[in-house]
Amino acid sequence: MASAAALPPGVKPPPLEIDLGDQESLQRGARTFINYCLSCHSAAYMRYNRMGKDLGIDEELVKDNLLFAADKVGDLMKAVMPPEDAKVWFGTAPPDLTLVARFRGPEWLYLYMTGFHREGGRWDNIVFPDVAMPHVLYEWQGEQRAVFKTMEDGSKRFDRFELVRPGSMKKEEYDAAMRDLVNFFVYLGEPAKLVRYRIGVYVLIFLGVFLIFTYLLKREYWKQLH
Ligand code: HEC
Repeated sequence: MASAAALPPGVKPPPLEIDLGDQESLQRGARTFINYCLSCHSAAYMRYNRMGKDLGIDEELVKDNLLFAADKVGDLMKAVMPPEDAKVWFGTAPPDLTLVARFRGPEWLYLYMTGFHREGGRWDNIVFPDVAMPHVLYEWQGEQRAVFKTMEDGSKRFDRFELVRPGSMKKEEYDAAMRDLVNFFVYLGEPAKLVRYRIGVYVLIFLGVFLIFTYLLKREYWKQLH
């Protein structure tokens, strides 16, 4: 988990609500990931059909809408671009993203996806200086510029982003889409969490029902004592 101390000066941890029970959010995140990230990155520990099942996406829908980077629903989620080619293009191979939420932390990921800014004709990132990845969602977010404050000791501190060119989404819409994407990455990093979450719900229902019966039973007993 990226701690606040690891963030550059002036960058605050975002208010971020991760909710693995929000299936629609997870589905939207999966769609963004498959459409915009899987061309370069893989999530090679995950199979399409497992994801579909976990997120309540019908197998036919997975086949028709999400499978353009693979042939079979049982395939692992491999990147479209072979890593060797990507390395030539970007100088760095795009890392596999299956576990990224676990070693970077959801907050860092959210800051990364909302933190691309353009300086001197190239993309930079507020939590990943000199990043080799272009801002692939700039059509959604638009183009922003980072404004820094110079402190008394001469050091620079991030102050805010300034929108230079609006994208197709409003800021709230883009932020919500990134929250869905991060939610999806948290699921991807530990799919068993989702199962545990479901079991948790059943346990609570069971206990609730059990409590009713215990109460009724108690009433029965007391009736006989009076
Ligand atoms: C055009 C290719 C390309 C696409 C598309 C792309 N990335 Fe990347 N990404 C890269 C490269 C290259 C790096 C390595 C950057 C570096 O090390 O400087 C990277 C790095 C990252 C990292 C940092 C990983 C780490 O811990 O170091 C994250 C997170 C990430 N990408 C997320 C995404 C997400 C989410 C999407 C889809 C919205 C996406 N990427 C789409 C090329 C791409």
